[in-house]
Amino acid sequence: MDLNVLLKTLSLDEKIGQLMMVPPHLFIQSSDTELMGPLKALGISKADIFKTGSILGIGSAQEMIDVQTIYLESSRHKIPLIFMADIIHGYETIFPVPLGLASSFNEDLLEMVAQISAVEASTAGIQVTFAPMVDLVRDPRWGRVVESFGEDSYLAKRFAAAQVRGYQGDGVDKPENIAACVKHFAAYGLSEAGKDYNTVDLSRLNLFQNYLSGFKGAIDAGAKLVMTSFNIFEGMPATINKYLLQEVLRGSLNYKGTIISDYASLKETITHGVKSNEYEAAVAGVHAGLNIEMATALYIKNLKDAVENGDIIEEQIDALVMDVLKLKKECGLFDNPYKGASIEKEKQLVHADVHLDKALSVAQESIVLLKNRDLLPINNQTKIALIGRYANNPNMNGPWSWHGSKHLNNTLSDVFKKDMNLIYVNDGSNLDYEKLKAADVILIASGENEKDSGEAHSKANIKLPYNQEGFIKAVRDRTTQPIGLLLFNGRPLDLSNIVDDVDAIVECFFPGSMGAQAISNIILGKVNPSAKLTMSFPRSVGQIPVYYNHLPTGRPFHPHGEYTSFYLDLDHTPLFPFGYGLSYCSFKYDNFRCSNNRLKMNETLIVSVDVTNRSNRIGKEVIQLYVHDHFAEVSRPLKQLIDFKKVSFNPYETKTIEFIVTKDNLQYYDGNLNLRVDSGTFSLMVGPNSSDLQKLEFEFFKEV
Ligand code: GLC
Repeated sequence: MDLNVLLKTLSLDEKIGQLMMVPPHLFIQSSDTELMGPLKALGISKADIFKTGSILGIGSAQEMIDVQTIYLESSRHKIPLIFMADIIHGYETIFPVPLGLASSFNEDLLEMVAQISAVEASTAGIQVTFAPMVDLVRDPRWGRVVESFGEDSYLAKRFAAAQVRGYQGDGVDKPENIAACVKHFAAYGLSEAGKDYNTVDLSRLNLFQNYLSGFKGAIDAGAKLVMTSFNIFEGMPATINKYLLQEVLRGSLNYKGTIISDYASLKETITHGVKSNEYEAAVAGVHAGLNIEMATALYIKNLKDAVENGDIIEEQIDALVMDVLKLKKECGLFDNPYKGASIEKEKQLVHADVHLDKALSVAQESIVLLKNRDLLPINNQTKIALIGRYANNPNMNGPWSWHGSKHLNNTLSDVFKKDMNLIYVNDGSNLDYEKLKAADVILIASGENEKDSGEAHSKANIKLPYNQEGFIKAVRDRTTQPIGLLLFNGRPLDLSNIVDDVDAIVECFFPGSMGAQAISNIILGKVNPSAKLTMSFPRSVGQIPVYYNHLPTGRPFHPHGEYTSFYLDLDHTPLFPFGYGLSYCSFKYDNFRCSNNRLKMNETLIVSVDVTNRSNRIGKEVIQLYVHDHFAEVSRPLKQLIDFKKVSFNPYETKTIEFIVTKDNLQYYDGNLNLRVDSGTFSLMVGPNSSDLQKLEFEFFKEV
């Protein structure tokens, strides 16, 4: 298919149509009257929808086949539609939410989750997923932290690349692969006060130093689309921000693919008060280089006039359309407009046992043990009481699991009845304390609802909701047995009020289709927990933002310093820090050393540490390596993650873990946005989390 020849055959209207994305029901709605509703809302005719280029969301292979068939039968140019949807942590088989998945610190799992998601979604006729979401997050009030990889830019980069590899595999033309759309460009995670869609304000230095990292990881891994964010950057909505989309995305990040808006974000430039009408907004979108307008129809209603008025030229539209045609060609749609859609395969593959087995192993590696006062693991003879709002609740898939069959999920009580000596189950209403007292151990399954986080679901209070703190304290006051707390939540919570009332805390986030079995296996010790937090848990909402890689300031905290950076009424450190997570093993770090205490520009430093598993069971440890640049052109974080290794240890085994450090690990952006490294003193730190670290220093010499 020669796309230049094809482009020349298109009318201006048909070209503009390729830049529009509409929902599928416009094509398969039986009665015109209903059609007229959404069409009227969009302000377009029925004829217009047969010019559209892409579809937002699809629910099955049959639905995709029907829409594509109806469209191609009526379309003059026969350019296939491309189908896009939010496959964030699974399609039908649901994996842990990204904030949990990232806690596995296991890139292979992130890649596998994306690959399985692609297999299931592609059989349902989806060719593009709006993932990975790589927004850096430091504010758990924001509902969308659940979709992110957490507060660290280095992890965002590595995990974004892993997921793009998983989705796109050996080519997006293959039926089982789908194109990745990395989002939300850019800095959406800085929404002020944690309120979704709120104002964002950051320096270009902060943008380059921290907030572009995940996008760089995804783009360098070959992501085919980038989605713009709802927020402004330097006062201009990202969706029409020429600096962001042209200088930064196309320029600095060397991105050559398709740019798609977020839902109605082009039209919202009017609400932002930056464009006064749809015509102006449409023209601005073209000048900024926005290829596809999601869910509104400003382009198709205005761009023909804009060309006639000379506010844009047709060549600009040609360039935008060519990106979309290239995407469709890369996805193999010109060869087969139905690509991966298969009603038969959908029945076999979607929610298949083999995928559920993988979902179990992923969930097991994504659950973080935050506290364990000699309670876990328990043996299966121990008499267990399981109480609380998640005792009988299957809804543990979390936000953005719109297609997952949560009714198929086992509940904790389903699984615990099978695996343990479960003597009492109660969802938290009207507890029978006599039965409770007959148990050896009380497990309280608490947390947020799935809708307490996710898009547009920000919260000002991040304590356990629905009076669960009171519930836990009442149980503590009226019983004497040890209590284990199982948490289901989409954000770091303020657990400071109850952390001392329980003997163990198992952070499950939203663990997905096989969450209950994963939790049982961990509680019984069949699996040794190995996950680590990728987002700090604050002691109070008043502490936000609290994150590990903060700058030194001119007056860093000092225990005896009156005029230093701290709170009069609260410990200034997080309750649980970035990188923190316990195991049933205990690991010892010795002999932290490096091959040289001097490093030159083109040399490498071998950094080693001896780690010993001091326990009689197998366990995995995430060994983390951080760096601190003592003096630079701009202030640098006291510690910044530059590498990690997740390693399995046999009982009593010692392994020497080696890292390679080069100048690339030391680089930073200066005030002129130049990537640089300077001669000087650096510290390296190694440990099981961002707080318990051993340190060594070396000198870097820029001169070759
Ligand atoms: C939503 C979200 C975005 C999602 C898109 C399509 O508003 O911001 O993450 O991909 O719309 O559903």
